[in-house]
Amino acid sequence: MPLPFRVQLIDVGPRDGLQNEKQPVPAAVKIELVHRLQTAGLTEIEVTSFVSPKWVPQMADNAQVMAGIQRQAGVRYSVLTPNLQGFEAALQTQPDEIVVFGAASEAFSRKNINCSIAESIERFAPVVQAALASGIAVRGAMSCTVGCPYEGDVAPERVAYLAGLMKQIGVQRVDVADTIGAGTPLKVQKAMEAALLHFDLDHVCGHFHDTYGQALSNTLAALQLGVWNFQASVAGLGGCPYAKGATGNVSTEDVVYMLHGMGIETGVDLDKLIDAGAYIGDFLGRQPNSNVAKAILNKRLG
Ligand code: HMG
Ligand code: MG
Repeated sequence: MPLPFRVQLIDVGPRDGLQNEKQPVPAAVKIELVHRLQTAGLTEIEVTSFVSPKWVPQMADNAQVMAGIQRQAGVRYSVLTPNLQGFEAALQTQPDEIVVFGAASEAFSRKNINCSIAESIERFAPVVQAALASGIAVRGAMSCTVGCPYEGDVAPERVAYLAGLMKQIGVQRVDVADTIGAGTPLKVQKAMEAALLHFDLDHVCGHFHDTYGQALSNTLAALQLGVWNFQASVAGLGGCPYAKGATGNVSTEDVVYMLHGMGIETGVDLDKLIDAGAYIGDFLGRQPNSNVAKAILNKRLG
């Protein structure tokens, strides 16, 4: 399979990145981060989630953040919606895409969204229908496609099963997520191939956390299958509150640097992306969790 010549990136920093931050991040900072990402050329941004504020307090300002964004033509703004209640609230804010999120492991499904995989699909089905009827695109995130914090290794058959259910209810594309960042390239390829039994190459997306430092290798392994949609998080922010110990997504800076170095287009201006990462890093009081960002920031100091 030849490598793709272009990759579409979704920056999930404002959502996956910030959801796990203990210190409150004001809506104005989240809005500014989204603005900086779109200025850097990101054309897909996962902005927030319409989940229970008791479960994820950091996302309680979802509507305020969505309302504050000055939208740029050609940019797709997505939000997470676990159920109809979340979808109805999200609808008021006019997202371009909603994301239902399930898991390939039963235990994670229960811990994250308080229901079984089968129940989650029952909850998602009306959300998907309502979104499509409103002209909103629908993505399905699939957590724990290689490993689960509670069940250990996850078999590719579990991924195929979930992908099949997502397809049946009308989900248009899926994220193959390594939630705990424990995956290695061949395992990730198997998980991808399982998703590809139900979705074509244009409709699967890699979402790799970098806990064990494997995410760039896993990205390359997915590219070698022809996958050309990836999620990453500016400054390597984040983690999932229900996947203890898991760190952030692979940093968008590292992915962009690798892809550009391979001659693969992303449409992203790396320097402006570094600025976006530095902005949120300054706010949080720490360096970006990205080797590329650190190297370039050091070089700028001369
Ligand atoms: P539940 O307690 O089973 O829900 O939670 P419920 O329907 O029984 O309702 C209980 C209460 O929650 C009620 O309030 C509802 O109004 C409220 P009360 O009467 O007690 O005051 N509620 C809501 N409030 C706001 N928005 C809503 C909503 N729904 C119910 N949408 C629920 C079920 C799904 C809501 C809960 O488990 C939840 O919010 N979970 C979210 C967990 C989460 O956000 N995890 C992180 C995102 S997933 C992730 O990071 C992984 C990903 O990045 C991919 C990867 O890396 O793997 C995507
Ligand atoms: Mg994630």
